[in-house]
Amino acid sequence: MELPPAPNSFFASDNFSGAHPRYIDAIARANEGHVMAYGGDALTKQATSLFEELCGVEVDVLFTFNGTGSNVVALASLLKPADSVICTNWAHINVDETGAPEKFLGVKLHDVDAADGKLTPEHITSLAGAIGNVHHVQPGVVSITQATELGGLYSIEEIRAICETAHSFGMRVHLDGARISNAVAALGGDAATFRAMTFEAGVDAVSFGGTKNAMLGAEAVLLRRGVASDRSAYIRKQATQLPSKQRYAAAQFVEALSDGLWLETAAQANAMAQRLFHAVSDIPGLEIGSPAVNSMYPVLPPDIKKKLQDWNFFWDWDISRSQVRWMTSWDSTEADVDAFAAGVIAAFS
Ligand SMILES: Cc1ncc(COP(=O)(O)O)c(C=O)c1O
Repeated sequence: MELPPAPNSFFASDNFSGAHPRYIDAIARANEGHVMAYGGDALTKQATSLFEELCGVEVDVLFTFNGTGSNVVALASLLKPADSVICTNWAHINVDETGAPEKFLGVKLHDVDAADGKLTPEHITSLAGAIGNVHHVQPGVVSITQATELGGLYSIEEIRAICETAHSFGMRVHLDGARISNAVAALGGDAATFRAMTFEAGVDAVSFGGTKNAMLGAEAVLLRRGVASDRSAYIRKQATQLPSKQRYAAAQFVEALSDGLWLETAAQANAMAQRLFHAVSDIPGLEIGSPAVNSMYPVLPPDIKKKLQDWNFFWDWDISRSQVRWMTSWDSTEADVDAFAAGVIAAFS
């Protein structure tokens, strides 16, 4: 069947969308006059206290430019000499950061096989035998991703169990939260849920994503004080992630955290993924699982895949299985979802 007109937006990535107008307004308001640079401004102080309130424990807050930089700064702040990092084979730090952690931290990543993208306490225990053996790099940090690179979620109990096991071996825990807002929106939708799945569960450092959730190049690293290095401010600068005009990132986080905008935009992305799933899940021949957050990973017959990608671009995921990724964003609308679903239905007819 002929494909209908393509939607007005893409379902390829939450990085394809622009920034929410409220963040653009916040940046414009922050653009007045001269203020102290490198974080000495009032907006940085305000955003930092909003994060401290959100975390419920004493944290150091470091704003950064991108998620890869956040991960490098967070890991560097947790690692000790001769330490290694335990993560899954799917971890963004392992496969999608062009080796940045290995290059800049000189660290070994133990990338354990996890078909569903989720680390378990058993993975950690299986590597802990190296501790104390002078011939082995010392597993010092566990890194998990919430929501995962495969669009899944750790329950709060699962994160707590990972932290308990890691801490029992003296390891620290990093959480790559490029999509933490989507995870919080899916599992409770409030600040208490964020606290429960991070610092209350025992997580020691969070890379808190803003850009995928409607901000303009704004990310933050949240470090549990007393566990992470007290040199983290210097580490960030060495890692080239200290913004000179930090007020612009800070202004966006003030806007996000003051009245729950960060959860509103994430909930919209999640809801649109559900809508898309329900619109196409009955199509015979389409293999697709229900999304936990804002992404799904359908397997499409190769000819249909090509036809749809030519019509409205989206990324391949596992080309050996003709698997792709569809991802909604904070600004995906019902009309866009319905138009995309109509194209998928037509392609299969
Ligand atoms: C799980 C995860 N972590 C971190 C990032 C940050 O990446 P970037 O450096 O492109 O902001 C991404 C972006 O795709 C991601 O998916």
